[in-house]
Amino acid sequence: MYRAALLAPLALIASACTTMDGGEVEMAESTPMVSPILTTPDAVDDQTYARPQVARVTHVALDLDLDFDARMIGGTAVLSVLAQDNAGQIVLDSNALQIDRVTDGDGNSLSFAMGDAEPGKGAPLTIQLNGARTIRIDYRSAPDATALQWLSPEQTAGGEYPFLFSQGQAILNRTWIPTQDSPGIRQTWEARITAPKPLDVVMSGVAQGEPEDLGNGRRAFRFVMDKPVPPYLIAIAAGDIDFRATGPRTGVWAEPATLDRAYNEVADTEQLVEAAEGLYGEYRWGRYDMIVLPPAFPYGGMENPVMTFLTPTFIAGDRSNNGLVAHELAHSWSGNLVTNAVWGDGWLNEGVTSYFENRIVEEVYGKSRAEQEAALAYANIIETLEDVGYDAPGTALHNDGSGELIGSAIAYDKGHFFLRTIERAVGRERFDAWLRQWFDNHAFQPATSRLILEDMQANLARSPAEAKQLKLREWIFEPGLPSNVAKPDPRAFATVDTAVQAYAANGTIPTGWDDWTAAEQMRFLDNIPKQRTAAQLAALDDALGLSETGNNEVLFLWLELALANRYDPAVPQAEMFLSEIGRAKFVRPLYGVLMEQGDWGQPIARRIYAETRDGYHAVTRAGVDRLMGIED
Ligand code: BES
Ligand code: ZN
Repeated sequence: MYRAALLAPLALIASACTTMDGGEVEMAESTPMVSPILTTPDAVDDQTYARPQVARVTHVALDLDLDFDARMIGGTAVLSVLAQDNAGQIVLDSNALQIDRVTDGDGNSLSFAMGDAEPGKGAPLTIQLNGARTIRIDYRSAPDATALQWLSPEQTAGGEYPFLFSQGQAILNRTWIPTQDSPGIRQTWEARITAPKPLDVVMSGVAQGEPEDLGNGRRAFRFVMDKPVPPYLIAIAAGDIDFRATGPRTGVWAEPATLDRAYNEVADTEQLVEAAEGLYGEYRWGRYDMIVLPPAFPYGGMENPVMTFLTPTFIAGDRSNNGLVAHELAHSWSGNLVTNAVWGDGWLNEGVTSYFENRIVEEVYGKSRAEQEAALAYANIIETLEDVGYDAPGTALHNDGSGELIGSAIAYDKGHFFLRTIERAVGRERFDAWLRQWFDNHAFQPATSRLILEDMQANLARSPAEAKQLKLREWIFEPGLPSNVAKPDPRAFATVDTAVQAYAANGTIPTGWDDWTAAEQMRFLDNIPKQRTAAQLAALDDALGLSETGNNEVLFLWLELALANRYDPAVPQAEMFLSEIGRAKFVRPLYGVLMEQGDWGQPIARRIYAETRDGYHAVTRAGVDRLMGIED
């Protein structure tokens, strides 16, 4: 029965919901389709306090004011609830929220209690339903809500207005929205947001008409997301931003000072969407817009539906980092449409997306670039497995919580190479047909490792023998790297690898560097000997212009190499980089390298961090605090 519930077609789910004991609960007329109630034992989300089998949120209506002075969002959240007839209470997730009042649809008070908080997870907010199926919560966020970053004008490109953005994944949204914050509990939502003029507000939902001038120096913006999404995908940004279309259904928002560069970088987006649709079916979300945020944004990108959030640090002037856009776009299928039910199955979002990203890159930018990017991903897998051990439990795609979490190499790159391996083994035609049906048949539903394994066994492999030969189970549930892995084409980097050898053997610095692809440059910097003298570093920088590169991925590798060798001339640039950029992927390793450099690096790291820490997002700060030994 549980499987049947997970596989139930949407039409059935829309009218009724199977409960844990097999009974059905009525859904309100207006309640849109919701994902099935989670009952599979391998899909119990221990990161939520919610008990969706008893009572679950199906719709969230927000009415909130942005207060830049107090660094606070406050107002009301009206939740629609689907519950067992006898459900006495509903449990929500909350982290540092101040709850002022809870009422039912008629304005009667409902009693509520905030339980004990756990670090990161927050506290359960238990509300007595008293038969109510609509609850209204008056609340506000804390000034240090981890999902929100409030930027001072100095932290923006324009320097004149403050800026706000949110980051929900994985469990941060409970610091500004009181709801059931689990990726398996999908909810539709709507919002009315007020902000001071002249700021614009964007969200991960469809904007409704023009903003309304409230006559008090503020404007109200309305948004609707009529498709059920996991709540980590509710996102907001507000600032002095403008929009430019890149195609009929695509466009980009950015601060005026950044918009030209942002637009030039993402001008291929309409083609990316077309390529993605050609591969795995219709783009189901209407528009695909992006916002290029200030450099404090802690990630490269975040796949917020209809409004991908991007770091400005991917702008290189030549679209060489646009795998990022392809990646966030691909999440419109893998992640946003079919979603990991629990974060331990994050590879279902990130690995499938990384594979899909590579296929889009191949379509739009060509096979050679795609194969180079795949080869970088493969090198990352090998480097990580060599580092942590091929038998480390955390190197299985399905993470049952027993292994420590390992960067991007497993969920992203091993996940990518799993699908690539299967694709190469069964052929593209069969593989693509399978992946397309996976998205179609599980659209707007949560998925687990077990579900995808069963789906591959049923709909991809032609026989149990073939499933075994493909090593499907081993790929998903065992650590290490199965022997049938489809390795990258060694020709992808043949020239670079020869250049690396020549440089390692006799210091020959390659010529024609500026004509190399960004991936080639990164491969070279990744693979040359790690121990370099100051003279050798100066020679490299002189010949290749590394410190002047316009590509932040390349600049990062150069700074990492330079700092690891205590190269004084690189320090001012590293300091500038670390003061301007808050992207954790760059920031954390650079402090890490400095901290490994004892008497030379540690004082530099501490000096820079003392200046920069306040400007970093909570995610970045937490990572650097850990490696600097700073207790929260
Ligand atoms: N969804 C992720 C970002 C994320 C992951 C946020 C885990 C919070 C927890 C996003 O799609 C992503 O993968 N971003 C990468 C992009 C890259 C792989 C192209 C990033 O930010 O570097
Ligand atoms: Zn991703």
